[in-house]
Amino acid sequence: MALDAPNRPALPAEIARRRTFAIISHPDAGKTTLTEKFLLFGGAIQMAGQVRAKGEARRTRSDFMAMEKDRGISVSASAMSFDFKEFRFNLVDTPGHSDFSEDTYRTLTAVDAAVMVIDGAKGVESQTQKLFEVCRLRDLPILTFCNKMDRESRDTFEIIDEIQEMLAIDVSPASWPIGVGRDFLGCYDMLNDRLELMDRADRNRVAESIEINGLDDPKLAEHVPANLLEQLREEVEMARELLPTLDVQSVAEGHMTPIWFGSAINSFGVKELMNGIGTYGPEPQPQSAQPRQILPEEPKVSGFVFKVQANMDPKHRDRVAFVRLASGHFKRGMKLLHVRSKKPMAISNPVLFLAADRELAEEAWAGDIIGIPNHGQLRIGDTLTEGEDLRVTNIPSFAPELLKSVRATDPMKAKHLEKALMQFAEEGAAKVFKPAIGSGFIVGVVGALQFEVLASRIELEYGIPVRFENSQFTSARWAKGDDQALDKFVNSNKQHIAYDHDGDTVYLTRLQWDIDRIERDYPDVTLTATKEMM
Ligand code: G4P
Repeated sequence: MALDAPNRPALPAEIARRRTFAIISHPDAGKTTLTEKFLLFGGAIQMAGQVRAKGEARRTRSDFMAMEKDRGISVSASAMSFDFKEFRFNLVDTPGHSDFSEDTYRTLTAVDAAVMVIDGAKGVESQTQKLFEVCRLRDLPILTFCNKMDRESRDTFEIIDEIQEMLAIDVSPASWPIGVGRDFLGCYDMLNDRLELMDRADRNRVAESIEINGLDDPKLAEHVPANLLEQLREEVEMARELLPTLDVQSVAEGHMTPIWFGSAINSFGVKELMNGIGTYGPEPQPQSAQPRQILPEEPKVSGFVFKVQANMDPKHRDRVAFVRLASGHFKRGMKLLHVRSKKPMAISNPVLFLAADRELAEEAWAGDIIGIPNHGQLRIGDTLTEGEDLRVTNIPSFAPELLKSVRATDPMKAKHLEKALMQFAEEGAAKVFKPAIGSGFIVGVVGALQFEVLASRIELEYGIPVRFENSQFTSARWAKGDDQALDKFVNSNKQHIAYDHDGDTVYLTRLQWDIDRIERDYPDVTLTATKEMM
């Protein structure tokens, strides 16, 4: 994230107040509950429970969505915007299941920070760790929320140690829990010297906050029983001695994470976390691009597609491209250059994802996420500008780890299947390869569950029942080289050659040995496991 940009002017106020972030967590840690409370305190919903209720209503719409519900996973990502104090928060939802790591990776290219939610009884779990590693690749600032403190949880020092050790990041406590489980009273706010008490009676009420004058303030004894108070004083003293103090720069660089303790379901600790997002957010960051980096304060609008979702409304075959604005002040109706095709696009019906519903976006600023309905022109990795030939980088496409061949059970539908597959390939839901010899397609995914999701979507959205069968290949690599070298390579290896949906050459094999051999025999051809989507 640390990109060179010396002597930058201050950001326009509208951009400076934006905080675009994602929540990363292991399933069940409390991401949905926390999101709900964010929206509640952001004034976007009136009552907690609406996110889930909305979710249920949406999920009953199709079997595919039902599958999402049955498995307790979220397959598709979406974005939500809401205001909190002087800030505009853009929360980008990350798909939770490990099978969707590529999608998640791309989602994380669209945010400036991540909130990591862990369960106070379980600590760092496998999925948290994986997602954290993805954030680390981009040095994203991470803010940590240790949830479910109203239940029996682990020792505070032990939790902090575990995060420091397993994730190799410094942890600085922003709050300190008082009591555990049934005896959990609330937290001592280490940054602002306040006592925050949890209200167990009303889950949607914000906790009582009592200003105190340090840990020796006699007022503390009025609210905290003697034994807990003694423990709190000891622990905080130890924490201040042993743990690093909060360093804004270190947080911004992704080397340190502040941790808040709370209970999302009891609305406890959530506001402090939201204040933390406002304070340590950070504001929209520069975006790496070719041939130059894009700064958010640039007056001209630019943005990039990080996700495409097809058939959000099954009645209309629309696709929505999710665009992160990298710079400028966007207004509805603007004409932007679609850099890849060099064609202008009038953006007449953009949508902002304002918590509850999609709403037409009249304007948006750098840092915001807008949805652009389109008929397939917009693909992941595409850049939009006001005319300059800029291409956002760092949105990779990964080589799939599992390959299967796919057939329509009704051969008459083969042609339609091709169309459906191409659409999913463009959406980024799978890799689709057309072998140079023979008919049919090979589909590549990162996680096995994606085959089921695809089969179910192809049947549901296109009415084509399909079967996935084992393929003779297990690995795919993109082949690059000049035309002559590539032709020679392709002609001598026809049985292994296929083309992806962009027409780029792909080498399919089942042996690492083959890949090594090609690299030896064709020094002018490079085989790569990722392809930059530009
Ligand atoms: P996820 O999106 O990360 O998967 O987690 P989600 O918010 O759905 O929360 C998982 C479960 O943990 C839910 O219980 C939720 O109510 C509970 N939970 C969330 N925050 C807290 C908390 O602060 N304290 C306690 N004790 N529980 C919490 P569930 O039984 O699976 O669902 P539900 O019946 O409560 O909706």
